[in-house]
Amino acid sequence: MKVDIIIKNVDNLITLKGPNRPRTKEEMGDIGLINDGIVAIKGDKIIYVGKGELPSDIETHENTIFLDGKGKTVTPGLVDSHTHLVHGGSREHELSMKLKGAKYLDILEAGGGIHSTVKATKEASFGQLYDKAKKSLDIMLGFGVTTVEAKSGYGLEDFDTEIKQMEVANKLNEDHYVDIVSTFMGAHAIPPKYKDNPRAFIDIIIKEMIPQVADEKLAKFCDVFCEKGVFSVEESREILEAAIKHGLLPKVHADEIEPMGGAELAAEVGCVSADHLVAASEKGIRMMAEKGVIANLLPGTSFNLQSGKFAQARRMIEQGVPVALSTDYNPGSCPTENIQLVMSFASIIMKMTPEEVITAATINGAASVGLEEEIGSIEVGKKADIVIFDAPNLDYIIYHFGINHTDKVIKRGKLAFEKSSNIL
Ligand code: NIG
Ligand code: FE
Repeated sequence: MKVDIIIKNVDNLITLKGPNRPRTKEEMGDIGLINDGIVAIKGDKIIYVGKGELPSDIETHENTIFLDGKGKTVTPGLVDSHTHLVHGGSREHELSMKLKGAKYLDILEAGGGIHSTVKATKEASFGQLYDKAKKSLDIMLGFGVTTVEAKSGYGLEDFDTEIKQMEVANKLNEDHYVDIVSTFMGAHAIPPKYKDNPRAFIDIIIKEMIPQVADEKLAKFCDVFCEKGVFSVEESREILEAAIKHGLLPKVHADEIEPMGGAELAAEVGCVSADHLVAASEKGIRMMAEKGVIANLLPGTSFNLQSGKFAQARRMIEQGVPVALSTDYNPGSCPTENIQLVMSFASIIMKMTPEEVITAATINGAASVGLEEEIGSIEVGKKADIVIFDAPNLDYIIYHFGINHTDKVIKRGKLAFEKSSNIL
């Protein structure tokens, strides 16, 4: 068999070898490390993973690319499984408000926050949204991200804008190296128009939007912002159950700021993931563990909200909840595409070990978007989504924080990103 790419002499090859399901407890520390590792790629697939040299039945051809892993750490492509990628405008004006003590939910209640991004997203054309999101995707790819989840939710009652966001995400999925998984999140805020009658908006989401999103295959998942002053637990349950009925997979923004019982709801409904969980209850955590709901943690958001409160990652892992990590990239609560910084926060602040962190950002992230059979580990038969980090070991990537350690990114067997050294 003739191979297209060989990565050889890899000091630290982190394979994440193991079952194609979210990893829990000690499994999260078992990263399938191979020293002096070697990987061979043919087409878009991994066809060999091992140590030292290739077996004799694997041959090269005249265009085979050889990459040297000496001094490098190689991991599966990172999965950013919670983002609000497609949106108009930016909200840096909220920084001075927050510095003066304004709270995220107060800004939202006063008609700012998400509502100001709704306005900017409505005003932006398809092309403008596409170009802006593409720029962010390029940055994410440069940080080693090969799969991204992207939510709608900046159109709200303006369904055309919701559809425009999902169509941009789906078009970028076709055009860009990075794979995009689309999520419908019409239930992201109560539009001012429905402030006194949220029921009417919920009915529109359930009776009109969800069926059409499912019919037109605009999204794979449906998400709801279950939060004080936004959607209650019962309203969220109704929306998620309608989504399930139409074949959309449920996710929920749960217990992000106030303890709402969002974790409990996620377990009861059977969500694939519950995200944020900063204020999740002990009972909710136990219920998630029992039902295998993934806790998608977003410490970049805690940092940017200046709340000083982070999710209880250690408690969740000890209780057997599978943990994933994402940026939550959005213009309000977490304006960064840098998943490597989020990985450092997860370790330095939430006390996850580097092994748990890389598990959370690869195979558990893949499971969070329902792609654990195809991506998330470096194993024979999986898609060749691989990052070569210019770092001698995994600890170095997490410890030396705030910079980009990526050297090269391979996406579906193609060299998709290479660090430039263009100092003139
Ligand atoms: O995950 N909480 C709701 N949604 C986003 C923030 C969106 C925004 O502020 O624009 C979040 O924090
Ligand atoms: Fe979010």
